[in-house]
Amino acid sequence: MCGIVGAIANHDVTASLVDGLRKLEYRGYDSAGVALLNGGKLERRRAVGKVQNLANVIEATPVQGVVGIAHTRWATHGQPTEANAHPHVSSNIAVVHNGIIENYATLRDELKGNGYVFTSDTDTEVIAHLVHSLLAAENISLLRAVQRASRILHGAYGMVIIDQKHPDQLVVARSGSPLVIGHGEGENYVASDPLALAEHTSQFTYLEEGDVAKVTTTKIDIYNDRGEHVLRDQARDTEFNAAVSKGEYRHFMLKEIYEQPSVVQRILEGRIGANGLLPEAFDAKTVELFKTIENITIIACGTSYHAGLVARYWIEELAGIPCNVEIASEFRYRKIAPPKNAMLLTISQSGETADTLAGLRVALDRGFVSSLTICNVPGSSLVRESDAAFMTRAGTEVGVASTKAFTAQLVSLLLVTLQLAKTRGYSQAQEVELCNDLHKLPAILSDALSMAAGIEHLSAEFIHKQHALFLGRGVQYPVAMEGALKLKEISYIHAEAYAAGELKHGPLALIDEDMPVIAVAPNDELLDKLKSNLEEVRARGGELFVFKDKNADFTDGEGITLMDVPHVSDVMSPLVYNIPLQLLSYYVALIKGTDVDQPRNLAKSVTVE
Ligand code: G6P
Repeated sequence: MCGIVGAIANHDVTASLVDGLRKLEYRGYDSAGVALLNGGKLERRRAVGKVQNLANVIEATPVQGVVGIAHTRWATHGQPTEANAHPHVSSNIAVVHNGIIENYATLRDELKGNGYVFTSDTDTEVIAHLVHSLLAAENISLLRAVQRASRILHGAYGMVIIDQKHPDQLVVARSGSPLVIGHGEGENYVASDPLALAEHTSQFTYLEEGDVAKVTTTKIDIYNDRGEHVLRDQARDTEFNAAVSKGEYRHFMLKEIYEQPSVVQRILEGRIGANGLLPEAFDAKTVELFKTIENITIIACGTSYHAGLVARYWIEELAGIPCNVEIASEFRYRKIAPPKNAMLLTISQSGETADTLAGLRVALDRGFVSSLTICNVPGSSLVRESDAAFMTRAGTEVGVASTKAFTAQLVSLLLVTLQLAKTRGYSQAQEVELCNDLHKLPAILSDALSMAAGIEHLSAEFIHKQHALFLGRGVQYPVAMEGALKLKEISYIHAEAYAAGELKHGPLALIDEDMPVIAVAPNDELLDKLKSNLEEVRARGGELFVFKDKNADFTDGEGITLMDVPHVSDVMSPLVYNIPLQLLSYYVALIKGTDVDQPRNLAKSVTVE
């Protein structure tokens, strides 16, 4: 979603701001803009569409400055037009903002009543006028005005403000939308995502909820929500440098698909040994917490929700703990009857998804006794606000369509399941067997990736299709759901997943030669049932594409294309069968010529409701 970059230095920062915005393009946006202070003058440039359009505007009408703010906007209030693009200005004040100001309509009326003229449909413009009005009313500092504004604004925001009358500083405020400060030498930066700053620094300070900070070239002063001056930890992070390059790959998504074997290796390092989980895998507090719980509710969104659906099979089968899985946007508003002694488990790549975070925040009131997050971003809101966190170590994921983060979530969830199972009668022999399977997983994923050429060939069959049906049974049903989501996200083909046993209850009516049916068919106890379901499709002239265990017998023939998947144990099968489905969506999108890494209308991190 929206991205923020800000910089203050002793040299022109325009190029740094635009480069920073380019690094944030992956998050999804529809317009971009910058505002700079140049010799006491506030100048702004904005453009609809890609950051390159903004760069073209700057080239045509150059601008420069030693202090500046920049933004990529994903429209919420108002169309993606230039007038609605950030920064928004009120005379000498300019602001960029991520999030939503919920009381903007009331504030807008009040400010209009005080003579302020609005030039956009956004909620953000009220921030600019509000800060301006507070500064105009009293002789206070910009920092003080922003602190006061923070108490008046309701909703979620990460914002950066500059003021022509205070040209030596940026003022930033965080409440519900992340912001990080990047430390430089005689220059400092701010951003909504440290990736934007990777070329300038590897030293970061993450602001906490309610923080307001004043940033100059040499000094950073942070105040908490009570207005007290506070010191926040500085962390060194170099991972972002590697993430910003596609390397030899045509798209970030493809790079991230191919990273999966090494991601799995990284997750397992220091967490499992030859005979089982290592003591370092979980801290003592988490181990204790796991011992006492009797129920688990998983909440998540998008791909992370699918990881939760897979995990339910593992948690119930291996650990014997009842487990519910729910979409976070529904959970947060449902009047639930909480299960006894229940832990809330959130799954999130970003750790900032608004609905998942809101679900966590309401869970305690609903009687949940503890919370665990499976998350990819250290220092994110979910990590900070949960009782315990298990980091997925996937590295930065740039492609909007999640691939390696999903695999990392699954492996992490399997380790969590193992820890839960160990205190509930799971034997040493079972633990050794599961760990053996995990050790073999990177090699099996690499084998699955070697299906790429065959799948690329197959993708041509989908170029003129409008719809597709994905089928799976048991733990492969959520894998089919994830496959359908990937295809619709990046190739814009309408795709639905069904548990194959449900075919007769409706979707069979859709089957004809224009409806490709993709099935995931490992050699498990449900294979024969699945085969019967697929025969029902064939008998009605449907065109089948079956990703099957290489050792499983399938009747070949007209209307059926068989693709061999490496043999794998039942527990590991979701991880392996997901790979060919990722590749299929990638190659279909490639031949359809869509924007693979930044599909239309979508955002990487959904920080608004
Ligand atoms: C967006 C992304 C998806 C992601 C979902 C949940 O829709 O495009 O890839 O699965 O948000 O995000 P999270 O960061 O919570 O996993």
